[in-house]
Amino acid sequence: MCGIVGYSGYLLAVPRILNCLSALEYRGYDSSGIAYLNGGKLEVAKRVGKLENLANHLKTKTIPASCAIGHTRWATHGEPSIENAHPHTDENNVIALVHNGILENYTDIKKSLEGKGVTFYSETDTEVFAKFFSWNLFDENPELKEYYAKYYAMHNTVHNTFKISKKRIIKALKHTISMCEGAFAIAILIKGYEDTVFFAKRKSPLILGKCDESFMLASDIPALLGYTNKFYTIDDDELGFIEPDKASVFDVNLKPKKLKFHNVSIAPEQVMLGEYHHFMEKEIEEGAGSVLSTISRIEKIRALEKIPAQIFSGDFNLHISACGTALNAGLIAKYIIENQLRIPVDIDYASEFRYKKPLLNNKSVCLFISQSGETADTISCAELAKSAGATSIAITNVAATRLESITDYLIPTSAGPEIAVASTKAYLAQLAALYDFVTYVAKNKGIPLEFSMDSVKNSVIKNNGVDYSVQIREVAGLIKDYESIYFIGRGIDYFLAVESALKLKEVSYIHCEALPAGELKHGSLALIKQDSIVIALLTQSALIEKMLNNIHEINSRGAKIILFSPFTELKPFVFKFIEVPKVNDSLAPFSVIKPLQILAYKIAVSKNLDPDKPRNLAKSVTVE
Ligand code: M6R
Repeated sequence: MCGIVGYSGYLLAVPRILNCLSALEYRGYDSSGIAYLNGGKLEVAKRVGKLENLANHLKTKTIPASCAIGHTRWATHGEPSIENAHPHTDENNVIALVHNGILENYTDIKKSLEGKGVTFYSETDTEVFAKFFSWNLFDENPELKEYYAKYYAMHNTVHNTFKISKKRIIKALKHTISMCEGAFAIAILIKGYEDTVFFAKRKSPLILGKCDESFMLASDIPALLGYTNKFYTIDDDELGFIEPDKASVFDVNLKPKKLKFHNVSIAPEQVMLGEYHHFMEKEIEEGAGSVLSTISRIEKIRALEKIPAQIFSGDFNLHISACGTALNAGLIAKYIIENQLRIPVDIDYASEFRYKKPLLNNKSVCLFISQSGETADTISCAELAKSAGATSIAITNVAATRLESITDYLIPTSAGPEIAVASTKAYLAQLAALYDFVTYVAKNKGIPLEFSMDSVKNSVIKNNGVDYSVQIREVAGLIKDYESIYFIGRGIDYFLAVESALKLKEVSYIHCEALPAGELKHGSLALIKQDSIVIALLTQSALIEKMLNNIHEINSRGAKIILFSPFTELKPFVFKFIEVPKVNDSLAPFSVIKPLQILAYKIAVSKNLDPDKPRNLAKSVTVE
């Protein structure tokens, strides 16, 4: 939620900031804004809506600033508007601040500042952050603030005699963050510091990039890949500043940190569209690759062997928590673990888990699945598991995340950067990691499995060769104008129906409901009428007969069934039949999900919607 970026160097800052923001736009696209120091002036430009609105506004000007900060917003406090857009400034326009996160105690701080005469113009917690920092900076000498602003207004610069030292700024920043509760990554410009971006972070991600002749800050690594591959991950409660030739980072006690920059080898093409129209299209195509590279990475770094085998030897309880698509991957894992290992699995929406007083103890093994590793609900569950003495395992796609830092073990997925808000290749990579986990537990418990990781690889390769484009385009055209669509399946197919419905609804805005096929007649069948669309999934031979009964029930209400299945003998019973490759029953997710992801994508495109940036959503959900 929200992306921030900062630049201090010798080159034009504004185009760089805009470039980086475009890579961060997946984190929010309700508004965007930029602040820069130009000939001593602190200037701010903001626009509501997508970044292109801000870029179009700025493209006519050449702004000779070499230091700037930028923001792309997913609205949490207050509607998308110019007033609520970042950067936020203090009363005298001395400070501009961008923020990703949530300042939880902002109402208390706001009240206390209002009591001191400070006025607020937006509904955001970030304006409170900016004004609180400003207050703390000038607190010891409030006249200085006024003088600073007046002198500045007259001379458009700050005389060195009156310049506040960087030491004092850092102290004020430290004091500010020590009073703040919640999550934040902030970047700040201060008048008089033409070449400096100050920053601080807690819980929200912030990366420092070392370029040839500049330093940059951003919410994630891919945003900076066009400029550098040398990164330092800023830790919680670290703060500091960047200048063109130097980055200074301090720990919570203001002790300077020795910075070790790591080389990251993500090729810039991985975050570029290339021949594709949208990232969702590209990422669906990358699904097979993400499964194969996840399996090989887990093997290469021996990720599973780091999880002590003895935790699976005696009694243990297995819990899974995640959100959205990551949870849907967990549902498949639960099915496979219970079905083949005969081990019960609890699974919860991360947003519900902590409120149900979960039964956790030191015999619990908790799996937390998250593409971003940043999802606030999932992180809270991991914190809860830790405090209960449980063993916690993270499955994440992004490196060095908060989720990774608070869990005991990591099973990394290797899908590469996933930019589209709708998760596609990461879902498949999560499944690969989960199947690998199942294989590891089975091995340790001496339980034979119906599949091997080689069979996972083969099924993915087999499925990848199928060209669905013509059939799916036809089906997309048929259903794009519907307001409501139903998905049905039994067994593992039901869980795939759940994921397919989520994918379709989030990018097409068609209401989609997934139901266990047998449940239909217990209520929802009342909604099925002439020409209703029902998408049915059937990959398990043992379920053919039962599903056929459900198909007949639906047909007799005049609805149109679109069946995704390898069983061609069912073709005469349905309105449209999409043949998917037949694989081992347990591997169905690897064969059936791709055409359903393509369907969601094609429908969004045929409705002229942007599948990469569905309305109201953001890629990383860092609020609970
Ligand atoms: O980064 P995470 O995997 O923790 O994100 C979880 C969900 O927010 C995410 O999967 C969301 O449901 C996707 N937009 C679905 O396509």
